[in-house]
Amino acid sequence: MSTLAILTAAGSGTRLGRDLPKALVQVDGVPLVLHAARRLAASGVVDELVVTAPPGATAGVRDLLAADPLVGLPLEVVDGGATRQASVAAGLAHAGADVDVVLVHDAARPFAPAALVRRVVAAVRAGHPAVVPGLPVVDTIKTVSRGEHQTAGAHASEAATAAVEPVTGTPERAVLRAVQTPQGFDRDLLVRAHAAGAARAGADHLAATDDAGLVEALGERVVVVAGDEAAMKITTERDMHLAALYAGRVA
Ligand code: C5P
Repeated sequence: MSTLAILTAAGSGTRLGRDLPKALVQVDGVPLVLHAARRLAASGVVDELVVTAPPGATAGVRDLLAADPLVGLPLEVVDGGATRQASVAAGLAHAGADVDVVLVHDAARPFAPAALVRRVVAAVRAGHPAVVPGLPVVDTIKTVSRGEHQTAGAHASEAATAAVEPVTGTPERAVLRAVQTPQGFDRDLLVRAHAAGAARAGADHLAATDDAGLVEALGERVVVVAGDEAAMKITTERDMHLAALYAGRVA
C-alpha cells in the first residue's frame, strides 16, 4: 500500500503574464512547484511524487526538487500534456504497482497545508474512493447562457452596450462548495475515470478542469472534506500578493 502524489506543474501560466511557466515563478525566493512539493512531503502521508512539467523544463524541475532536503521523496518528472487532464493522465501512467491511493495536486496551489493533505488521504483510506477539499462559497453564484450575447438599443451608453449574458439560474448558495486540490482517489477508480474520459483530454474546451469531474461522469460518488483558505489557487498577479501572506505561515 502506497500513496502517490501527482503534482501538476505543466501549465504555461499565461494569465500571470510572466515569461516562465507559472510553477517556476517564485514566492519568497522559492518556485511554486517546490513550495507545493515541500508541503506534500511534510504531510508524512505521501510515499512518492510524480511531477508533470512543461516539455523542455523537466530536467530543471527534477534538479530543483531532487536537491531540496525538504522534499526527500522518490521522484519522477514527466512531460505534461496539452491540458491539465492530459498531464494528470501522463502522471498516472507512471504509478508503480504498489500504489493504491493517488493524490492529484496543482503546483498553482503551493500553500495547501500538510494537514489538508493528511485530511484528504485519511478520508480515502477511511473508505471514500474520491475525496475533494472544498470551502463554502461567499458570493452568490449565477449560471448564465453563453453565446447568447445581446446588446442594448440605439440610445445605450457605452456601458450598456457591453455584451450581456442572460441569467439562467441561482443555485442555492448553502449547497455550493469551491473545490481545491489535493484531490484524493482510490487508484483503480481514478485510472478508470481517466480512461473513460480520455477523448476529452486533447482540447481545452472539452477537458475536465478537475479529476473528481471525471469520476462524477462515471456516476461514482465523490465526497467533499473541509478545504483550507491557504490552498488558494494562483492565477493572476493579485493572487501572488495574497499567496505571499501564506508563504511563511503555512506548514
Ligand atoms: O492553468 P491552471 O491554473 O488551471 O492549471 C492548473 C494546474 O494544472 C497548474 O498547476 C498547472 O501547472 C497544471 N497544468 C498542467 N498541464 C497543463 C495545464 C495545466 O500540468 N497542460
